[in-house]
Amino acid sequence: MKKPYEKPVIQKLITGYINKFANIFSPYGKKVRKEIDGVPISSLIEKFGSPLFVFSERKLRQKFREIKNAFTLRYPNVEFSWSYKTNYLDAICAILHSEGETAEVVSEFEYEKAKRLGIEGNQIIYNGPYKPIEFLKTAIQEGAKINIDHFDEINDLEKIADELGIKIKAGIRLNMDTGIYPQWGRFGFNLENGQAWRAVKRIVSRGKIEINGLHCHIGTFILESKAYEIEMKKLIDFAYKIEDEFNFKIEYLDIGGGFPSRNRLRGIYLPPDVIIPSIDEFAEKICDTLLSNLRSGDYPKLIIESGRAIVDEAGYLITTVNAIKRLPDGKKAYILDAGVNILFTAFWYHFNIEIDREVNGPCEPCVLYGPLCMNIDVVEDTAYLPPIPRGTKLIISPVGAYNITQWMQFIRYRPAVVLIGENKEVDLIREAEDLTDITRREHLPERLKLK
Ligand SMILES: Cc1ncc(COP(=O)(O)O)c(C=O)c1O
Repeated sequence: MKKPYEKPVIQKLITGYINKFANIFSPYGKKVRKEIDGVPISSLIEKFGSPLFVFSERKLRQKFREIKNAFTLRYPNVEFSWSYKTNYLDAICAILHSEGETAEVVSEFEYEKAKRLGIEGNQIIYNGPYKPIEFLKTAIQEGAKINIDHFDEINDLEKIADELGIKIKAGIRLNMDTGIYPQWGRFGFNLENGQAWRAVKRIVSRGKIEINGLHCHIGTFILESKAYEIEMKKLIDFAYKIEDEFNFKIEYLDIGGGFPSRNRLRGIYLPPDVIIPSIDEFAEKICDTLLSNLRSGDYPKLIIESGRAIVDEAGYLITTVNAIKRLPDGKKAYILDAGVNILFTAFWYHFNIEIDREVNGPCEPCVLYGPLCMNIDVVEDTAYLPPIPRGTKLIISPVGAYNITQWMQFIRYRPAVVLIGENKEVDLIREAEDLTDITRREHLPERLKLK
C-alpha cells in the first residue's frame, strides 16, 4: 500500500524540550492506546460519540483500596470520607460508598446528592465556609458531623442549639503553617495567631456547643509528606490542650485530603513517577506521628477526605482530532472536539496523551486546541506528536478529578460519561446533554416571541 505523503519538517531545537527523563512532551505512559480496560476505544466512540469521558471501576476501587490499606494497616481507627466536590457522579460516589466511604460535602446540593444515594445524615461530614443556617439546622438534626469554619458559624450554631433546646456537638476547622506555601488561610481558624484558641474559649464561654473534633485541610496536590507530619502533630497538641483545659473529648482528627495523583503538574520539572511520594509514605508519616504522640490507650478516629488521589487516575477523556493547521510561527496545531469547557484541569496539568493508532512520521512540537472560539481554550501547548490525521482519537489522562464537577456548559454541550465495570461491562453513567437541558429552565416572555 502506498504510504500517504508527509511533508518533511525542520525542527528548531529549543533547550528545555528534552530532559534527562526523556521527552517532556510524552513524559509517561505508552503512546498508542487502543483500549481502556479491554474495551476498544473505537467501540466506545461508535456507541457513545466523541468526546467521551470514560471511568474505570477497576482502577477506582484499586486506588481506594491502596489508600485504605496504607492507613488501616498502620492505625486502628480510620474513616474515609469521599470528597464529593472532586467527583459527584452518582456512579462514582456509589462505588466509593460501597467500599465503605462516608460522604464529605461542602454544600446543600452535595448533601442532598449524598442523601439521595442512601447515605444517612450521620454518615455525612459537612464542611465549607458557607453553610446557610436553615440547612445547618437540618444537617444537625440529621446527625451530620459539622466542622465550624468561622465565628459567625459559631453564632449560628448557638442559635440553632437554643432553637432545638440541645447542646450541639461539632468540630472546628483549623488552618496552620505546615511548610506548604502559599498557606491556605481562608478556611477555619488560624492556629498560630491564637484565633483557634479564641474560638475554643468563645465556644466554652457560651456552653452551647461541645467540641468533639478537629479538622484541617492543608491544601491540594501536596508533594511533601513532612507537611502532614507537622499537621498531625499540631492537631494532636491542640486536641490535648482542649481536653486538658476543658471537659471535652476530641473524638476525631480529620486531616482533609490533598494527596497528589500521578498527574504532571505544570511548572514541575520532574515526572510524576519521580516526584510523587507513594501513599505509603504519607500514611507512614501520619500514622507514626499519631502513634508516637497520642496518649496511651487513646485512639481518636483519623478521618481522611482524599479526593484527587482516588479518582483522578480512574478517568480518561477520549477526544477526536477535527482539524489540523499551521500557526503563523510554523507550529502545528490540532483542533479537538474537547477543550477547557469540559477539561478544567488542563490549566493545571500536562496530561498523558495517547493516540488510538500507530502513525508513521517524525514527532514534532504541537499545540492541542479545544473547539471553543476562545483564546484560552488550550488543552496542551507542548504536545509532541507524530503527524496524526483528522479523525485520530486522543486519549487524555488522568482526568477523573475535578473535571466532571467543574466543567461548564459553555458554547458546547457536555458529553456523555461511561463506566467500564470490572467485567468489561460498559454503562452510560451520564448522558450527553442536548438543547432541552439548557432551554428547560429558560422562559421567553410572550411579548418577545418571534413567531
Ligand atoms: C475540606 C476538603 N476536604 C477534602 C478535599 C479533597 O482534596 P483532594 O482532592 O486534594 O484530596 C478538599 C478539596 O479542596 C477539601 O476542601
